Amino acid sequence: MTKQMLIAGNWKMNGLRDSLGELSAISAAAGETDARVEVAIAPPFTLIAAAASVVESSRVAIGGQDCHAKDSGAHTGCVSAVMLADSGASFVIVGHSERRTDNGETDAIVKAKAETALSAGLRVIVCVGETESERDEGRAEDVVGRQLRGSLPTARAEHVVVAYEPVWAIGTGRTPSVEDVDAMHNFIRAQLRAHFGETGGDVLILYGGSVKPSNASELLGIAEVGGALVGGASLKASDFIPIIAAA
Ligand code: PGA
Repeated sequence: MTKQMLIAGNWKMNGLRDSLGELSAISAAAGETDARVEVAIAPPFTLIAAAASVVESSRVAIGGQDCHAKDSGAHTGCVSAVMLADSGASFVIVGHSERRTDNGETDAIVKAKAETALSAGLRVIVCVGETESERDEGRAEDVVGRQLRGSLPTARAEHVVVAYEPVWAIGTGRTPSVEDVDAMHNFIRAQLRAHFGETGGDVLILYGGSVKPSNASELLGIAEVGGALVGGASLKASDFIPIIAAA
């Protein structure tokens, strides 16, 4: 495979210091992989600094799962993009559907977070995706188009990655058909070109939602799929490494 790929793991609210052993194994495997495959892990905030030292001088990037839209201030319990960068993170995920649902994050909030993260020097992974009822009603493209227009930063496409994660595929073991992923990724590509101009053609578009060793090759083989955002299967090196290998 000749295309550039990013395989990113999202540990969500999982992982204690013990889990850093999994990261060491992932880091060793990443070193054996084709240079066109980038590997990234977003552990919980509590592990970012330690994770960054585990992967030091390896090819694995460490990132945050969210950040605040402001750099600092009276926001108890929140973490800013500059803090992530200061802890050794090089990227951050924004707009994950679990944040949109659990924390009421709107497209405008997601966009503000993305802009702040870019200013802090982080790469951003902007997540979009429709719910099952939106897909059943034939509104998947409308929803994803609206999320993209509202959530993407205005510029700096070279530091932006988009993750298409149908909400109904996250953590369920279900995935859309190859045809549906292909159609949605082509739609997202057209939106990225409309938004960023020519540089929108180079933005990686990850697929996320129940990616596992058994379906990774098929999903990653779709033309406009530039990698995967992996939840459950990123927690164990024995699941995540075959997904890296599939890329
Ligand atoms: P999953 O999660 O791989 O466990 O479905 C994906 C995600 O939420 O990023």
